[in-house]
Amino acid sequence: MQSITTVAFIGLGVMGYPMAGHLAKQGLTTRVYNRTQSKAEAWAKAFGGTAHTTPAEAAKGADLVLVCVGNDDDVRQVTTGSDGVLTTMASGSYLVDHTTASADLALELNTACREQGVAFIDAPVSGGQQGAENGALTIMCGGEQAHFDAVAPLLNHYARAVTLMGPASSGQLTKMVNQICIAGLVQGLAEGLHFAEQAGLDQHQVIDVISKGAAGSWQMENRHKTMIANEYNHGFAVDWMRKDLGICLEQARRLNATLPVTALVDQFYADVQRMEGGRWDTSSLLKRLRKPE
Ligand SMILES: NC(=O)c1ccc[n+]([C@@H]2O[C@H](COP(=O)([O-])OP(=O)(O)OC[C@H]3O[C@@H](n4cnc5c(N)ncnc54)[C@H](OP(=O)(O)O)[C@@H]3O)[C@@H](O)[C@H]2O)c1
Repeated sequence: MQSITTVAFIGLGVMGYPMAGHLAKQGLTTRVYNRTQSKAEAWAKAFGGTAHTTPAEAAKGADLVLVCVGNDDDVRQVTTGSDGVLTTMASGSYLVDHTTASADLALELNTACREQGVAFIDAPVSGGQQGAENGALTIMCGGEQAHFDAVAPLLNHYARAVTLMGPASSGQLTKMVNQICIAGLVQGLAEGLHFAEQAGLDQHQVIDVISKGAAGSWQMENRHKTMIANEYNHGFAVDWMRKDLGICLEQARRLNATLPVTALVDQFYADVQRMEGGRWDTSSLLKRLRKPE
């Protein structure tokens, strides 16, 4: 496989925009594509890379192509689609998918890549918009050890931890565990804050006390202030969480794993979507409890 000096980044959303920025800041030649072209042009202006009009064009000559779009079908469009990156990627190059997608998609892409001598790593991330901006993401990878060893130093430019979990699709399966753990936890935090409010307690003081004990969590630490203020503008959208929980529940069905709380919280997020909160962040479960009868 080849050494990595030129990279292409496909998908400059909440996550991709700052992630690609970290690579450009390291002096790598960075070529970008975004479906909404104006975002790619703004990115190129801000970071000094080049904006391209198709994924295929952006990937031309790149040693490493990184993708961070929405769901399985979006990934297919920008990779194996008619203008996808695999139409121009050379044998010996690397494809890393940061999208949170299904394990099946990872296996499908792994096969498509292998057929043309491209190394594939599924590499979903955790840590949110803040993590992407501060270069402090957690990245869970699936793929071959040698391929992982080649790309991990690059991924480290925007991560605090990059870990190979096993063969292709292991990254996506690990991310599913992450989302399963978060779903019930955020609902618990929303219920606790709702209860404190109804009881007339000072919610800030309550969190100050209990966060130091067994109830403490990253979500409590990083989300309680905005939840109390009824603000839900952190990057990770409810629409994405529903997509993720759908993937988890489908995988669980096939694995014969039982996820009753995850299934319930998924329905609570459907309520939030009906409140037109699809782009609110996932802590908006509290708004659902607060909504007038
Ligand atoms: N935000 C978070 O906190 C977070 C945390 C962990 C994981 N993730 C995951 O990371 C991925 C990206 O999330 P995000 O928050 O960055 O999403 P986002 O802000 O909605 O951005 C999505 C990006 O994908 C592009 N895209 C979507 N469908 C496409 C298609 N069919 N063809 C080409 N481009 C397409 C969008 O282009 P346009 O600009 O044209 O819309 C945009 O650049 C998702 O899988 C999400 O689940 C997000």
